[in-house]
Amino acid sequence: MRLEQLFSGPTSVTLWGPRGAVQIQHPAPGVLRVRHAPSASDSTFTHPRLPAKQSFAVVGHGGHALTARRNGDTVHVSADGVALALSMESGTWTFHDSEGRLLASSRSVAGEPTPDYPVVRYRSRLALHAPEDEAYLGFGEKVGPLDKRGLRFTFWNTDVMPHHPDTDPLYTSIPFFIGLRQGVAWGLFLDESWRSEVDVALTDPQTIHWESHGPELDCYLIAGPAPADVVKRYVALTGRPPLPPLWSLGAQQSRWGYENEADIRGVIQGYRERDLPLDCVYLDIDYQDGYKVFTFDRARFPDPKGLARDAAQMGVKLVPLVGPAVRAEPGYSVYEQAREKDYVVRFDRGEVLMGEVWPTTVVFPDFSREEVQRWWGSQLQSFSETGIAGIWNDMNEPACFTVRNDPDSFTVQGRRPNGSGRVEGPTLPYDARHGTRRHLEVHNVYALGMGKAVWEGLKQAAPDKRPFILTRAGFAGIQRYAAMWTGDNSSHWTQLESSIPMLLGLGLSGVAFTGVDIPGFVGRANGELLVRWMQAGMFYPLMRNHSAKGTPRKEPWRFGEPYLTLARETLRRRYRLLPALYSLMQEATETGLPVMRPLSMHAPAEGDALRAYDQFLFGPDLLVAPIVRPGHSRRLAYLPAGKWLSFPNLDRPGQVHDGGGYVIAEGPLDTVPVWLRAGGAVPFTQPALHTTDANWKALTWHIHAAAQVTGRLYEDEGEGHGDFRLTRLSGGLDGDTFRLERRAEGTLPLAREGEVIRIHGLAAAKSVTGARSHRAVDGALELEVGAGWDRIEVRL
Ligand code: GLC
Repeated sequence: MRLEQLFSGPTSVTLWGPRGAVQIQHPAPGVLRVRHAPSASDSTFTHPRLPAKQSFAVVGHGGHALTARRNGDTVHVSADGVALALSMESGTWTFHDSEGRLLASSRSVAGEPTPDYPVVRYRSRLALHAPEDEAYLGFGEKVGPLDKRGLRFTFWNTDVMPHHPDTDPLYTSIPFFIGLRQGVAWGLFLDESWRSEVDVALTDPQTIHWESHGPELDCYLIAGPAPADVVKRYVALTGRPPLPPLWSLGAQQSRWGYENEADIRGVIQGYRERDLPLDCVYLDIDYQDGYKVFTFDRARFPDPKGLARDAAQMGVKLVPLVGPAVRAEPGYSVYEQAREKDYVVRFDRGEVLMGEVWPTTVVFPDFSREEVQRWWGSQLQSFSETGIAGIWNDMNEPACFTVRNDPDSFTVQGRRPNGSGRVEGPTLPYDARHGTRRHLEVHNVYALGMGKAVWEGLKQAAPDKRPFILTRAGFAGIQRYAAMWTGDNSSHWTQLESSIPMLLGLGLSGVAFTGVDIPGFVGRANGELLVRWMQAGMFYPLMRNHSAKGTPRKEPWRFGEPYLTLARETLRRRYRLLPALYSLMQEATETGLPVMRPLSMHAPAEGDALRAYDQFLFGPDLLVAPIVRPGHSRRLAYLPAGKWLSFPNLDRPGQVHDGGGYVIAEGPLDTVPVWLRAGGAVPFTQPALHTTDANWKALTWHIHAAAQVTGRLYEDEGEGHGDFRLTRLSGGLDGDTFRLERRAEGTLPLAREGEVIRIHGLAAAKSVTGARSHRAVDGALELEVGAGWDRIEVRL
């Protein structure tokens, strides 16, 4: 794409050629936005600026200063932390960081409109150089190993049931990846909601090809150098996640097929009778009256308020499913309002689009419009009065089983290529109208708009609470509103294993609050699978048991002993871990870093860390390598360089391993292999049957002594917007002295008398100051300190 004219302003540089344009901006330190418009000359665009473009994903889009200098064919753009050199001849560029390191380069950019009446479709193509030793991580909700080199993906939110290891696309599209080469990371976010496809060095091992059906390729190039730097910058662009209520981190139970109130009460009772921790039960579509959103079937759920009240008394919250499709039933108020206000999606020629989902004939609210979002949110006012605690957004790709075509309506259906794998789930036609836009453009952000609608609605309905939303579909930025689960998986061991790289990829793509259906949605599970899946799932930020209608029941007690006892122990461990999990969720609100992290985030230069896709870090300090195969009682685990204390089940410290290699971890059925990083400090509490608040009454720090120790604990009431306390530990070993300091900020009063600090790696002490008492336990030194302690010193 040849460029001929250069327009340079203080915050943007635009280059025009006979067949297209490129615009460069500097939205944030370390980030350049390169907007490629390869078919600009064929459209209505006018010089010297490209028209403003609405982003659904990017928030707080500041225009920082940049400078441009032309030197022959090359335009050099420099900005805070990054630089770009762009060729006028080809429109291609090289992207550097402030240290002059070459991070990425493009090979070609091209595009043209394809007249495809009545929608103009585009083919906009960008090719990037893919050095053979570079790995590619992220891409949102995708299957496959961590490094996605050699794969190909489509970004088109799709309802697939059930999904398999080769299924693509899935429900959520996040066109973002991290390149990682020789320990240096950079990122690319393609801010295009249009359908797009990426070939990650599959067809040509040296090239990434990205093709969008929109007129532009709006790229954010993000510098590292660490993978965590790229994630932080990407999340700053697309929005940091809010802190969820504490109860949503507790155990959750769901099933498609809890038919009535008695079923729901029975499930809660089932948990309590067996001393199983539980915080939340979902109401699947079965609660609805004729599958009408915002209604209860009064025959089967005669007293939703009473049900919510009784559940609350047992420490359990209720979260009902709400899909976007509105039953087209005259007299049904949601439908009548939607029609009257013209809030629905239409066919190209103007008729209201009727589709079919659970409630048979339906209309679809147009969530691309803010007034529609506000209207949908306002429905939550009276719905929330039933006492429900959150909303589960499902079928929001949107799924549409069939389009009830008006015989006079010409529509452009999606196309399905031949070959294996369904590329597109049934949804709305490409040319369906969302206000002035076409479905092809806004399909991928449908769930984002619905998420925003529910988020704002819940905040208005209960301003003193923090909204909880679970979503199936999403786009870049969905983390601002919702937690995400990965949809309809199956009770198969491969799906337990693949849940790990899937959630890691989502976490790298900004979605920190995630989980998958335990122990698989469709199919039959056995007790071993349940227990193994719970052992991995106790580290998922969202831990939910869910299953499909027609499958055998999958609550933890359905498998007999020893599985029930093992399930109980696993849930109790989850609740012990809540101070650490809650603190990590709070950290995500500040940095965007996920709770579940690939080993490469800690050790970006270690090739084996990249290949360890069935292991993960839980925050900075715990490494988890769950058993994910049937019949196995040990496994190979890679430990990055450094020292790692074997800490199976978070309670039985073993030996210290030297990292930088593999170990064989013992994992009999009652054990999940875990390690504690040298220098790590992780806060635990006592198990409980449900959460109450996050101002912990009992607190134990587990510390693995090293030269540098850091720890972090965030506490508040677990709900609402009240006081908080953020505690930081710092210190470490210096010769024969171990020191630790505690600093706290915030005004939340302490709810405990004292704390326990267990320091692994310190056996006997000559003297201890700052603690009430000390003793040796399991080869570690355990101190008891007053709650407001500020400094301890151990002489060895
Ligand atoms: C979809 C959801 C699933 C739900 C079912 C019935 O398949 O993914 O979780 O149970 O619909 O509502």
